[in-house]
Amino acid sequence: LVLGLDLGTSGLKAVALSARGQKVAEARAGYPLHTPRPGWTEQDPLDWARAAQEALRALCEQLGGAEVVGIGLSGQMHGAVFLDKAGNPLCPAPLWNDQRTALEVEQIEQAIPRSELIRRTGNGAVTGFQLPKLLWLRNQHPALFQRLHKVLLPKDYLAFLLTGALSTEYSDASGIGALNLAEKRWDTDILQALSLSPDLFPEVGESQRVVGHLSPAWAQATGLQAGIPVVAGAGDNAAAALGLGVSRHRAGVGSLSLGTSGVIFIPTEQPTPEPEGRVHLFAHADGGYHLLGVTLSAAGSLEWLRGLFPEVGLETLLEEALQAPLGCEGLYFLPFLAGERSPYLAPHLRGAFLGLSLAHRRGHLVRAVLEGVALSLGEVYRVMRPLAGAQRLLATGGGSASDLWLALAGGALGVPIHRVVGDEGAARGAGILALVGAGVYPSLREALEATAPAEQPATPPLEGLEPLRKGYAQAVEKVLELYK
Ligand code: XUL
Repeated sequence: LVLGLDLGTSGLKAVALSARGQKVAEARAGYPLHTPRPGWTEQDPLDWARAAQEALRALCEQLGGAEVVGIGLSGQMHGAVFLDKAGNPLCPAPLWNDQRTALEVEQIEQAIPRSELIRRTGNGAVTGFQLPKLLWLRNQHPALFQRLHKVLLPKDYLAFLLTGALSTEYSDASGIGALNLAEKRWDTDILQALSLSPDLFPEVGESQRVVGHLSPAWAQATGLQAGIPVVAGAGDNAAAALGLGVSRHRAGVGSLSLGTSGVIFIPTEQPTPEPEGRVHLFAHADGGYHLLGVTLSAAGSLEWLRGLFPEVGLETLLEEALQAPLGCEGLYFLPFLAGERSPYLAPHLRGAFLGLSLAHRRGHLVRAVLEGVALSLGEVYRVMRPLAGAQRLLATGGGSASDLWLALAGGALGVPIHRVVGDEGAARGAGILALVGAGVYPSLREALEATAPAEQPATPPLEGLEPLRKGYAQAVEKVLELYK
């Protein structure tokens, strides 16, 4: 057996996998998210440590002494765990969705032209990324910055606790903002332009490599054997892709996640960024790269709407949406409830219903949300397709349970969408990396072939969305103008 851990934003999930990638046990443990000021999101790294021990202990009890040969890690990307020399966090960790670094983003783009940043790292400067957080610490808390020994990504802090290793891997490291993607090393020119030492970052390498072994203290706290190899793992998007079998080894297959955010993930061999940085380019955990396009509020938009009608269930609302006609009789929904990432990086953008009339009923609103999210993802994919397209996308996330939503998304993107049968998720991907690191498979390619979940086509894509797409694009232009 191997274990896969996913350090999520709302909690930690741990799974035990067989050599064929079958889930044999699962445990979860939660922790709070703190928002001490508007736009700030933080977690206490020590809460993560407690949750990891709790989940591993629960998993270990379920396994009843079965041998564990490897542990793989994955987690929320971009966050910053600031450690002193003794390995203690200097302050709470700002997370991937934290917005406190507007000034630092400007500082970065003043020091390095945006086009140069994109060419080297795959992305422009983004408020949520780790690099501006590091500058924030230096700007706002110089005394803490003086004591800073290393800055780690969330799941790499977990690896440090488990093994003592200070390490990271390409997929998560590429979300920092300082990794040279083509050369796969810290970009010393960028760091120099910002007067930052490369020594602040850990050593970086491949996802499936063993970075250390489970310490006696953690063995005792969890019931696991000391000495189990721990592999570096991957950022949650890359790990989830591996869990679905989405990699450079299976050409033409990407994924579409309809979770709180909507995420399109497409593997690519070359580190060729979108020239304007309208979608992300990161390293994949398979030795290649991937494009990532994010509609920030996808199922999050539907969840928001559902919250306005507490007396009816989601099922009723979706039923009503089915009764409304395609195009909702001129009603558009723009899903920018929390700003937007792709294809316009605009944290201050806000959402809208456009075209409301007396004829509109609740079902129209629900359907407009489904259509708006699908059309937004369609716009994201239009930017990705010239760089890396897909013949089919594997759907995941809570929203993928809706046939109507998948048909709309398939129509808006112009790509058939399949559903996977069986387990998925980032923890599964982390476990697959552990299978390779532990030597159960000689290569990631073979591990992915042996563990890929079965799939079946979802409802066929809806045809005839072009007029809607045009109307939506016009509506977006107006709202972009408003929030310029
Ligand atoms: C990716 C991103 C999120 C986090 C959250 O760029 O910000 O998917 O990884 O888990």
